[in-house]
Order: sequence, then C-alpha cells, then structure tokens
Amino acid sequence: MKLDFPRYTERLGAVSIHGVQRIYELDSGKSKGFLTSHQTIKKFDYDEISNILHDMAIVVPVKDEKLKLLEGVLSGIPNECLVIIISNSPRNPVDRFTMEAETVRQLGRFMDKRIVVMYQRDPALGDIFKKLGYDSILAPDGNVRNGKAEGMVIGMLIAKMYQKDYVGFIDSDNYVPGAVNEYVKIFAAGFGMASTPYSNIRVSWVFKPKVRNNSLQFSKWGRVSEVTNKNLNSMLSGITGFETEVIKTGNSGEHALSMPLAESLHYSSGYSIEPYEFVDIFEKFGGLLPSDYPNAIEKGVEIFQIETRNPHFHEDKGKSHLNEMLEAALATIAGSKICPPDLKEGLDDQIAHMSGIKSHKKPDYRKKYPVIEPISAIPIEEFAKNLREKVETFFRYGGLK
Ligand code: GDP
Ligand code: CO
Repeated sequence: MKLDFPRYTERLGAVSIHGVQRIYELDSGKSKGFLTSHQTIKKFDYDEISNILHDMAIVVPVKDEKLKLLEGVLSGIPNECLVIIISNSPRNPVDRFTMEAETVRQLGRFMDKRIVVMYQRDPALGDIFKKLGYDSILAPDGNVRNGKAEGMVIGMLIAKMYQKDYVGFIDSDNYVPGAVNEYVKIFAAGFGMASTPYSNIRVSWVFKPKVRNNSLQFSKWGRVSEVTNKNLNSMLSGITGFETEVIKTGNSGEHALSMPLAESLHYSSGYSIEPYEFVDIFEKFGGLLPSDYPNAIEKGVEIFQIETRNPHFHEDKGKSHLNEMLEAALATIAGSKICPPDLKEGLDDQIAHMSGIKSHKKPDYRKKYPVIEPISAIPIEEFAKNLREKVETFFRYGGLK
C-alpha cells in the first residue's frame, strides 16, 4: 500500500489529530523502498502489512444482518487476523444467532481462519461481568445491554485475552468484500505509521453512493457524519481558538485502536461510541483536565484518518435510525466536560428539538447514553477462564483454544 504521510496535524495537549491521508496504490508490490527517494509518500510491502495483521483482531458486531453480507465481510478479512464476531441477533421466534454461528462454522472450515463467535446477551456472560464487578455493561435484567458499543467492548476483551496488540472494527452489513479488505489494510498502514503505542486509525470513506432518480450518486458525506464532524470540529475550535475542519471521521464504524489505547478509554453505549472516542481522547489526553494516564501523556496519542479507494455500500437502515445516531453523537459532544458553553447550549437546543423534550429541562445525557468502564478494570486471565468454562455460546473455530 502506498499513502501520504499526514500533511497537517492539529494538536491538543498530548493528542495529534492528523488530517485525512490519501492512498495512491492499494497494493504497491512486494519490494521495500522506492525507485526514487520519496519523502512524502509511505510505502508498505506485503510483509510489513502481514506482520502487523498477525497481531490484529477484527471485531465484527452483528445484529440481524443478512447472512450473505456477513459471509462477504468474512471473506474480505485477511487470513492473518483473528476474527471476533459478537452477535446480538434475536434467538426467537427464529434463532438467528445459531444460524450465524452455523454459517460461520461451515465457512471457517473452507477459509481456514481463526474465528470466534459469541452471543452478546448470553446470561452466563452477564454473570461473569457481574462477578468481576463490571456492572457498567449490564442491563437491569443482568445480561449485557443491547447496543453496538456493548458488543464491541466484549470483542475488545476477547482480543485482549488472545494477546492481540491491535483491535479493528468492521460492520457486518457491508456489501463489498473488497472494501473490507481495504479497511483492514488501512488499519495496518496506520499502525505502521504511528510513533506511539497509543493510536487510533479511522477510515474515511471516499464515497457513500446512493441511488437517486434511478442512477448512482457518489455522494461524499451522509447527513449524520456531516453534522457530527462539524460539531466535533467546533468543539476543537472552541477550545484552541483556531477554526479547524480536521475531523472527518466522527461516525466512522470502521476504525481501530492499539491495545494500550483501547484499554484506557471509556466507551459510550450503542451508536454513540464512535464520536465519543474523540471526546474521551480529548478529555483524557488533551491537557484540559487532570489525567490518570501519565504514560500516554508522555508518549502521545495519535489519530490517523485514512481515505479509502473503495466506495462504502452498506444496508440502508432508514431515517429514524439516522436520527437516533445523530442524537447520540450530539449528546456525547454536549455532555462532555470540555465542551465550550456556547456550543453546548446550541447542541442542547438541537437535541431538544429533535427528541421533542422541553429545552428548559436539563437533559441527563449520561443516563440515556451510559458509559462503559475501561476494559483494564477486568482481570483478563480470570475473564478468559470463565468464558471458556461457562459460556456455551462462546464458539471457536480454526483451531483456537
Ligand atoms: P450504521 O452503519 O452506522 O448506520 O449502523 P448499522 O445499523 O449498520 O450498525 C453497525 C453495525 O453494528 C452493524 O454490523 C450492525 O449489525 C451492528 N449492530 C447494531 N446493533 C448491535 C447490537 O446491539 N449488538 C451488536 N453486537 N451489533 C450491533
Ligand atoms: Co451500516
């Protein structure tokens, strides 16, 4: 793969947010180095990418998606990666979860891939979290809450238990296996460029095509991402005093974290997880609030945003889903301790308008979007042992122990 070095970078305390980087070649061949001496382009050969993928887990959250799509996604993930599928698909009237697990078992044999499949709301899993004091992921019924973020957090814990250094996330509703393959390589390239153990790689889609008047329109941004990015940038501008448009990936479902960073973050539930990552990174490492993470402050935290060559085609989930996502994104920004007061006021009004609450009522965003504690709170050996002994839906394929 051949891509730009970051062309410009915004800094907030220990955090570097790199501007969007372009890819010049998806595959730049086997040999190292260049014919001429380039200073602005970084090249990764097969081996460099492959070495990083060996240390990477890809978490695929699933809820009631078409099995054909899940199959395509699995086929796009390079063989070196450990794949972790966390499913919250309904088990009745039809047991969708078992259908998924069965499909994956069969495919996994042909792919010869290491794959984990687990059911998010398995009562035995809820019991383990309860026992380990990790209540922030639980619903009142004692099971893990519904939500994409909840699934992702379980995926991260499993990545940690298999000693992976990097964990990437890829949605299961993607129509293009080639795009999935590119996302994973983008993660590897980002980690290969990072100069700190604390890094976050975010995919920026080159196009998100839509059908309009019977033809494909290659639109660049969805409405939700446009508004989320604008407000994240306003937050940053409000803090630094300099206007910026650096953030382009506020809602990107395709992103990856190095394990040391993954272990340090709090996670906001459901669909608010992606924008909240920015907020939490700024709060923890931006130098505005006291930090509990001196090592990360010393080493620095890097956020890379890399633009794909493949367009993004996924399932259309309709308008109310988009509104829900937007509200969650705005609430995570408005709820931040470092959100400038005028921005917060504007966001409160906007959210009140969207959700029909009276704006004079102070909304408690934390209640609606509870935050999950950092995964470092969990003793991983004990978690692993319990998972293996007690959770019947913890399926492992491809010779995984
Ligand atoms: P969008 O692409 O951001 O509009 O959101 P999607 O509705 O496509 O969801 C993103 C991914 O998360 C998809 O792969 C969903 O199947 C998955 N997902 C949604 N809700 C849940 C959940 O409660 N648990 C899990 N494990 N996955 C979920
Ligand atoms: Co989707």
